[in-house]
Amino acid sequence: MIAIGCDQGGYELKQVIMKHLTERGLVYKDFGSFSTESVDYPEYAKKVAHAVADGECDRGILICGTGIGVSIVANKVKGIRAALCTDCFMAEATREHNDANVLALGGRVIGQGLAVKIVDTFLDTKFSNEERHVRRILMME
Ligand code: RB5
Repeated sequence: MIAIGCDQGGYELKQVIMKHLTERGLVYKDFGSFSTESVDYPEYAKKVAHAVADGECDRGILICGTGIGVSIVANKVKGIRAALCTDCFMAEATREHNDANVLALGGRVIGQGLAVKIVDTFLDTKFSNEERHVRRILMME
């Protein structure tokens, strides 16, 4: 199960991503927000981050205007490794090297086509499990 959340800056892109997840047959839980009305992004970032940290969901996707605010908030939750990605190389590398469990996107930064490809790369790339990467992740805790 994938946890997904946004603020008003990410609402439109979230609709596109949820449609894409459905087309792929992937199950998600939408933690809001549920309109383009102005809201406080920390509220939604915390909900998604805790759903992943607590094991309710395997991965998270967070979208705000820049992706920065939600990634800062998510990374304050123990066990969360949130990565703000603007291209597929970053999405692949953060899965292989950092075992990132939350993807942050900027709805006002990247186009919808690229965002969907980043989501697919993030979801489809496995952690390398190489000793040096495991060691570095353990050093984060
Ligand atoms: C909201 O205007 C904006 O600050 C938010 O979407 C995000 O970009 C914060 O980092």
